[in-house]
Amino acid sequence: MNWIAKRPIVVSFEVTDSCTCWCKHCDHGGPRDDSRNLRPADYRRYMDALRPCVVQVSGGEPLMREDVVEIVRNIKSNTGLPYTILVSNWSLMNERLYGELRAAGVDQFSVSLDFPDRRHDDFRVHPGLYDHLCGLIPRLAAQGHDDIVLNTCITSENLEEIPAIADRAKEWGVNICFSSYSPRRTGCQEYFLNDPDQLDTLRWELERIDSRRDRTNWIVNAPTTLAATRRYFENAGTPGCKAGMRFLVVTSDGALQPCSMQFERYALEDRERMIREFTARNRCDQCYVSIRSYLDKSFPQLLWENVSGFLSVRR
Ligand SMILES: C[S@@+](CC[C@H](N)C(=O)[O-])C[C@H]1O[C@@H](n2cnc3c(N)ncnc32)[C@H](O)[C@@H]1O
Ligand code: SF4
Ligand code: SF4
Repeated sequence: MNWIAKRPIVVSFEVTDSCTCWCKHCDHGGPRDDSRNLRPADYRRYMDALRPCVVQVSGGEPLMREDVVEIVRNIKSNTGLPYTILVSNWSLMNERLYGELRAAGVDQFSVSLDFPDRRHDDFRVHPGLYDHLCGLIPRLAAQGHDDIVLNTCITSENLEEIPAIADRAKEWGVNICFSSYSPRRTGCQEYFLNDPDQLDTLRWELERIDSRRDRTNWIVNAPTTLAATRRYFENAGTPGCKAGMRFLVVTSDGALQPCSMQFERYALEDRERMIREFTARNRCDQCYVSIRSYLDKSFPQLLWENVSGFLSVRR
């Protein structure tokens, strides 16, 4: 229904702009003004108006919100919808909070991991983060809920680490999802894949990832998504973005934005104007982040890839 009614399939709530890290590839980092943040109950108004099938709770670093569990409770309806993904660096995660967030309605925990070792701390400028993840993730995965997905943003820095990061996911008993660096956030071209050797390496590594698929679906990206990731780097862009219509961002203070890297702000009531003014004219092709990689597809393809995923055999 959302597809036909041109309502968003995915809404990403950026619940704070503050962060515990200062990642080299990102425009966030450290504390920001949180005085105008939406309160947990405010999210209900957005849910009633937008009625998305999937919600991302993101930021900045969402776990910096002391009321993050309350936010999730206000997003989740008693029908079990929307499918709710917490996108976080997990620096503040612990066993108790994991349980509370699950009980409140988080269906999937997307945990950023850029390197399979302590280079993760250097890239994220957060000493001790890798050791923290290394201790916590296998322990929580052992509870058997199969709801943790490592999220690796492919950059020129970690390209060669793709197989080792996949190994780490296997070792920790969790799933893995790859996304692509966009220079649009910071303007930095250095982390993009700029030369033919890097593109050859990418092709080779993604083929190896494809060959490691099994019936547990631990590699979350569809094969078509990995192929499109390769084309995004080869062509230095992917046209046809539906930001603002198929997905959108709600900023920490409650404005609608087409995506996290386009800063045109609209009121909740002006969503259709955003589609007319932004989506209909948008020529930006500068990212292929996960939210796009799912929603650029045709409706039958989207349905098939997601429904077949739900029917997969669990570990
Ligand atoms: C903006 S962060 C917000 C949530 C949380 N702080 C985290 O790092 O998971 C969401 C995701 O965006 C990714 N990201 C940051 N900068 C990016 C860029 N320039 N291009 C693509 N992805 C980026 C991060 O690696 C992270 O996985
Ligand atoms: S990627 Fe996430 S953890 Fe890193 S600075 Fe950006 S918001 Fe913070
Ligand atoms: S391609 Fe789309 S989602 Fe990506 S930065 Fe441009 S407008 Fe935003």
